[in-house]
Amino acid sequence: TSNYETITVEQRDAVTLITLNRPQALNALNSKVLEELIEALAAYQADASQLCAVLTGSGDKAFAAGADIKEMSEKAAADFYLDDFFSPWTSEIVKKTRKPWIAAVNGFALGGGCELAMMADFIIASENAKFGQPEIKLGVAPGMGGSQRLTRAIGKSKAMEMCLTGRMMGAEEAERSNLVARVVPHDSLLDEAMKTAAQIAAMPPMAAIANKEMVNAAFETSLDQGLIVERRIFQILTASEDKQEGMAAFIEKREGKWKGR
Ligand code: CAA
Repeated sequence: TSNYETITVEQRDAVTLITLNRPQALNALNSKVLEELIEALAAYQADASQLCAVLTGSGDKAFAAGADIKEMSEKAAADFYLDDFFSPWTSEIVKKTRKPWIAAVNGFALGGGCELAMMADFIIASENAKFGQPEIKLGVAPGMGGSQRLTRAIGKSKAMEMCLTGRMMGAEEAERSNLVARVVPHDSLLDEAMKTAAQIAAMPPMAAIANKEMVNAAFETSLDQGLIVERRIFQILTASEDKQEGMAAFIEKREGKWKGR
């Protein structure tokens, strides 16, 4: 469905599947990947027929083994600073994707790969998944949100240990630490992620965006502010046609038919 170089994009019913596709470099994230991911997620966001997305890595080994070290090795500090390097990962990818998307982590999710997985609304991991922030070993540190999102996800002690030692965390520990929503057998990862995405895509679409916005408010604001966000969004949803339909369908003991309004 596309002329992308570094990713593939496929629509399966209401679910968009985006696959990072540089297996020879363990799907390392270079500027081209960023540019194409921004385009693919914007297309997903703009297409009213698409109601959930899944992001995964091609090949059997990696989701993404980080930002592209070869590309970064050629840049000077002034380039990183003047370009506000890594800024679009949050401003374009996280902030502009208001519809739900899931990371299906099939192997290494290191450095920027771990950070990209954490940008998704939640992570489903295969038993082979390995998470880490090994930037310290390169003389740097996380730059796409790892020190912040990992700390909020798994707490200070574990995040600090991960960042300071650069060690990898396996799938079982990642689930125990609340980094991932669920671990599934390696061979059924994509099926499970697509099934979960289809389940979300079957929900009233406005309510899906609203639920996402509320949970993110808990992640990003104080309890007082978050509770206000929650109540206001709840109140707005009660004016939707899908609220009328959803409650009527419950009372009439039938499935709801959503308008997305
Ligand atoms: N950037 C560029 N190329 C990468 C890469 C990366 N992050 N990770 C792997 N590759 C390339 C390798 O260079 C290699 O290419 P060649 O065959 O051309 O040499 C190919 O992918 C396969 O990798 P390996 O041979 O290293 O595979 P392995 O199985 O022996 O090891 C690995 C796997 C442990 C994941 C190892 O590749 C590795 O440690 N990768 C780097 C991980 C890392 O440091 N990530 C953090 C990057 S910095 C960052 O992300 C900054 C930020 O905060 C945003």
